Amino acid sequence: MSPRSILAGCGGYLPERVVSNEELAKTVDTSDAWIQERTGIKQRYFAAKHETAAFMGTEAARIALANAGATADDVDAIILATSTPDQAFPATALRVQAALGVTKGFGFDLSAACAGFIYGLSVADGMIRCGQARGVLVIGSEVYSRILNWQDRGTCVLFGDGAGAVFLRAARSTDDDRRGVLSTHIHAQGTLGDILYVDGAVGQPDKPGHLVMHGREVFRHAVTRLAEAVEEALAANGLTHADIDWLVPHQANKRIIDAMGKKLHLPPERVVVTVDRHANTSAASVPLAMAEAWGDGRIQQGDLVLLEALGGGLTWGSALVRL
Ligand code: COA
Repeated sequence: MSPRSILAGCGGYLPERVVSNEELAKTVDTSDAWIQERTGIKQRYFAAKHETAAFMGTEAARIALANAGATADDVDAIILATSTPDQAFPATALRVQAALGVTKGFGFDLSAACAGFIYGLSVADGMIRCGQARGVLVIGSEVYSRILNWQDRGTCVLFGDGAGAVFLRAARSTDDDRRGVLSTHIHAQGTLGDILYVDGAVGQPDKPGHLVMHGREVFRHAVTRLAEAVEEALAANGLTHADIDWLVPHQANKRIIDAMGKKLHLPPERVVVTVDRHANTSAASVPLAMAEAWGDGRIQQGDLVLLEALGGGLTWGSALVRL
């Protein structure tokens, strides 16, 4: 029997600086009322200069390892999902590897926008199942404040910075059959690349690279695709909505989160919401939400947790995990 991936620990890091809607409205033509009504966002965190993607990812990873009772020696691989790496290379994952004092194994960055953490979980789970690694850090770390267009009020109010991480540990299937990553399902549709993208890259002289989004179209696809991904996860495991203990959704918009909760017939208290305080932290949003709800004791060992996310690409996916 191939090993299973147990979610052994989780951690998060948020920058020190909190920026409320009111503070943003001093420089952007917007209002607290508009932002809250359309998105549920009340504030976000913006990184200081030293709070790089590598720094925040390292801090989140340290907490995940500590919560798992693991050390740097237990880490075989680091997969770091980000759209805002500090450098084109080395990979942010390897800056984290060095900072943690991990001296073996391998690491790489993964680019799948807001679905990056779900993609990372999927890749890590595959590596553990096939015996390529026994301990894998999956990190989402983002500094979206670097790529926001402050002249575009339709997007710059929606995002924030932060990092989240989980440590996956291989366990023999016979050890505890009920726990671990039960399944992941990841998808992409490149033909929808122009509804949410960054208009530049390293080495493109006239393009600093700012986020561009056609919000209504993204909204429409998000509700449909995420619902499909959730149904797919349940069907693959022979489970129903009633089996789910917790939904930990991507935190982009409270209206999308509410729609998903309704589709799953989950009471609001079973849906983890951080978008009001974190805004959309892209690949960091799911592990940050997980870290919060696991850390404060809401999510308990043995609970069945459904994770889902959608982002630019389009990319989307779901993961079903028994803690
Ligand atoms: N403050 C005040 N007014 C704003 C504003 C802001 N920050 N941003 C846009 N507006 C205005 C627009 O100019 C427009 O005004 P008009 O009617 O006079 O032209 C009006 O509000 C409506 O704009 P629109 O963009 O159509 O709003 P919307 O209802 O579609 O809401 C989003 C915008 C972004 C909140 C919504 O489309 C959304 O949540 N989309 C999905 C986003 C998402 O999840 N992205 C991440 C996926 S990873």
